[in-house]
Amino acid sequence: MKQMPTRLRNNRTIRSMVKENRLNMAEIIYPVFLVEGHNIKTPISSLKNQYHYSVDALIKELPFFKAKGVCSLLLFASTNIKSPDGSSGAASDGIVQEAIRQIKAADDQMYIIADVCLCQSKQDGHCCIYHNNQIDNAKTLEVLSQIALSYAKAGVDMVAPSDMMDGRVAAIRETLDKSGYDHVAIMAYSAKYASAFYGPFREAAHSSPAFGDRKSYQMDPANRIEAKREVGLDLNEGADIVMVKPALAYLDVIMQTRQDATVPVAAYQVSGEYAMLVNAVDQKIFSRRAIYESLVAIKRAGASLIITYFALEIMNLIESEENC
Ligand code: PBG
Repeated sequence: MKQMPTRLRNNRTIRSMVKENRLNMAEIIYPVFLVEGHNIKTPISSLKNQYHYSVDALIKELPFFKAKGVCSLLLFASTNIKSPDGSSGAASDGIVQEAIRQIKAADDQMYIIADVCLCQSKQDGHCCIYHNNQIDNAKTLEVLSQIALSYAKAGVDMVAPSDMMDGRVAAIRETLDKSGYDHVAIMAYSAKYASAFYGPFREAAHSSPAFGDRKSYQMDPANRIEAKREVGLDLNEGADIVMVKPALAYLDVIMQTRQDATVPVAAYQVSGEYAMLVNAVDQKIFSRRAIYESLVAIKRAGASLIITYFALEIMNLIESEENC
């Protein structure tokens, strides 16, 4: 019998009918950067079309985000308020805590996830506390748990620890549960690599390490088996969602995680992936379809949730690339 797979590619309608993977706005999470002040919406130079928002300015954008199909936000603090141990990130009147309260008041259907880490509030820009040049894991877990609790008190739906300390999911879970916040979910940055693709983010979040790098806590890009271990630990500690980060250079890790985990898998298309695509499209090196292709590849590898700076553009991409 003559085999003709091309029959199912004959026209747009049949191609749409046999499409194995689709993007879905319900599965897209939009990261946003908050700054102190009022009425501020300033472009982030390293991330074209992304902005630093003061809380009031972000609130004004919510109807626009909704109109673009965005239903969930991942909040980051680009704060100038720093402290030696990062505990200023747990202040009840901090910008993330304030944003959580105000977003919920403006639109209680907007799902709010808040990144939990020390690097944005710690003077030296590291994700952990050091003692005699060694990571003080126990002390770091205390501060991370305080930050997560402060978000829970403000009304967050989900916290996302991005620090890569050992045992942080268990520590945060325990703190939340004993304080009456067992309904707050945890999305763990489980397989988070020490990646050069975070470059633009560090400028956006004012979180570059003042000395050294993050290789003593984030994963080695050469390692895949170790991701199994990290994912397994986070699942045992009670993670509701596990994340792989970055995305495009780690599709094998996403696929493996999808096979191993019994919870939803998220992938973070990070700042450097975004900048690379935006710049190449701007310089007409390739067409905007490359953006769609990179996103659907993440889906195909097995992530259902995608965290991406392209969130506001995806509805249009779905229309041009997927619909019949
Ligand atoms: C903080 C954090 C980082 C990102 C998310 N949370 C940076 C880092 O670990 O250095 C990167 C996000 C991006 O590049 O888009 N720990």
